[in-house]
Amino acid sequence: MIKVKGENNYPIIETKISKIIKMKDFFYLINTVNNTKFKINKNIYNLIKEMNGRQTINKIVNKIKKDEKDYDVIIKYIKKLAKNGFVTINKTEIKEKIETELLLKRVHSQVELTRQCNLDCYYCYNNCSPNEDKYLKDPIKTLEKLSKRGCEIIELTGGEPLMHPDIKKVLKFSSKNFSLVILLTNGVLLTNGVLLTNDIVNLIKMNKNIKVHVSLQAFNKRRYYQVTNKYCLGKVLANIDLLFKNGINPRVTTVFHDKYSYKDCNDIANYLYKNYGSRNYSVSPLISMGKVKNKKLSIEKEYLNFMNDLIKKHPSFKEHRNIIEKSELNHKNCGAGWRSTIIQYDNKERPCTMFETKYATKNFDNIELRRKFYNLKAPNNKDCKDCPHLKFCKTCICRGWTKANKIGIENCNWALSNDVKEIMKQLK
Ligand SMILES: C[S@@+](CC[C@H](N)C(=O)[O-])C[C@H]1O[C@@H](n2cnc3c(N)ncnc32)[C@H](O)[C@@H]1O
Ligand code: SF4
Ligand code: SF4
Repeated sequence: MIKVKGENNYPIIETKISKIIKMKDFFYLINTVNNTKFKINKNIYNLIKEMNGRQTINKIVNKIKKDEKDYDVIIKYIKKLAKNGFVTINKTEIKEKIETELLLKRVHSQVELTRQCNLDCYYCYNNCSPNEDKYLKDPIKTLEKLSKRGCEIIELTGGEPLMHPDIKKVLKFSSKNFSLVILLTNGVLLTNGVLLTNDIVNLIKMNKNIKVHVSLQAFNKRRYYQVTNKYCLGKVLANIDLLFKNGINPRVTTVFHDKYSYKDCNDIANYLYKNYGSRNYSVSPLISMGKVKNKKLSIEKEYLNFMNDLIKKHPSFKEHRNIIEKSELNHKNCGAGWRSTIIQYDNKERPCTMFETKYATKNFDNIELRRKFYNLKAPNNKDCKDCPHLKFCKTCICRGWTKANKIGIENCNWALSNDVKEIMKQLK
C-alpha cells in the first residue's frame, strides 16, 4: 500500500455548500456558494457518501478501492474536492453524525411560522384566520436545524408570517444562513402595527437575498372584501408601492379562484406593468384544500384561457425561474418529501403544502423515508392505464393518493403497484 501524507485524517463533505443533482447517467456536484459545477460518476458519488468525518482517508480508500492502483486515484480526488471547498480534512474524528447523501438533502423548505392570519380568505388551504393562535415556538432553533442539514432556500409562510412576534429576528437569521429567503405575505402588515413599522421594509432592502411575494387576492374593494373578509385593498396597494419605491421588486401573486378572477388578474397585470413596468406577476389555480376542501370547483378552463391570453397580451411577460433545477424536473416526481418539505408550526414536516396536516411527521429525518419518496413514481400513463382520473392525478403524488382514498385503494392501480399505502403509513 502506498503511504500518503495525511491518510489518517478525517475528511468531511461540506454538506452546507455541496449539492448533487442526478443526470441521466452521471451526477453534477455543485458548490452552491460560487456555483462551480463538477461532473462526477457513481464511484465519486459513493466516495462522497463515505466522507462523514468519522472515517480516516485510509479507511475510506480501502473500503471502496477495487484494486491497488485505485488507491492513488481516490486520494487525488479527495484532495481535488478539498481544494475546491467541497471537503474539509479534520485531524480528529468528529462526534456528531452528519448526513452525507447529498442527493436526498432537503435543499428547499417552507417554514410555517404561524397559523394565525389578519385576513380570513374563504379559500385558504391552511385554514388560517384571526381566530387561530398557533405559532412556531423558538423559530431560530428550527432555522438552525434547517441550516445545519444543508437547506439552501426557505420560504417563510403561514398564516401571515409577519404576525410572528420574532419575525425580524427570523428575517435577519435567514438572510445570513440561507442563499435565498422568500417571504410570502398578504402585504397588509408590511408597514403597520407598533412592532413592525418601516423596519421590515428596511430589513428587506438591506438584505438582497430576501425576496417578497405579496398575494393580492382581488382588485376592487368589494371583491377583496368578499375573498378576505377585510377591507384592506388600499393598504396592500400602498405597501406594494412602498416596496417599489424602496427598490424592492415584489412578486405579486393571485389565486385564480372564480369566474371573476379573469378580470381581476388582467387588471392587476396591467396595473403592475403600467405603474412600475413590472412583469413579476404570477397567477396560480385554486387548490381544493382546507377551507374549500369539499367545494366543487370548476374553473380550470377559465384559468387556462387566462394564461393563454396573458401570454398574448404581454409577450415579454416574465417567465418565472423555477427554483428547482431543470434536470430535476425530469425526475419521476416533483421532489416532495426528499428535496423539499414544509415544516409546520409544531416542527412536524409534510411532503408539501398540498398534503393535509394529518400527514405531518417527524420521520423525515430518516433517510430511508426520503429515499422512498425519491423512488416513488408519480401517477403516470403506465401505472394508471385507462383510469378516468388520470388527468387529475397525473404527475402529483398527493392528488393520486387523495383520489386513491376516495375511490378505494384497491381500485387504484398506481397505489397498488407502488405500495403507496406502506409509504403513507410512515407519515405519522
Ligand atoms: C397560505 S398563504 C400564506 C402566506 C400569506 N398569508 C399569503 O397569503 O401570501 C400562501 C399562498 O397560498 C395561497 N393559497 C391559499 N389558499 C390556496 C388555495 N386553496 N389554493 C391555491 N393557493 C392558495 C395564498 O394566496 C398565498 O399566495
Ligand atoms: S391565504 Fe394567506 S392571507 Fe389568506 S387566510 Fe390564508 S394565510 Fe391568510
Ligand atoms: S386514481 Fe389511481 S390509477 Fe386512477 S389516475 Fe389516480 S393515481 Fe392513477
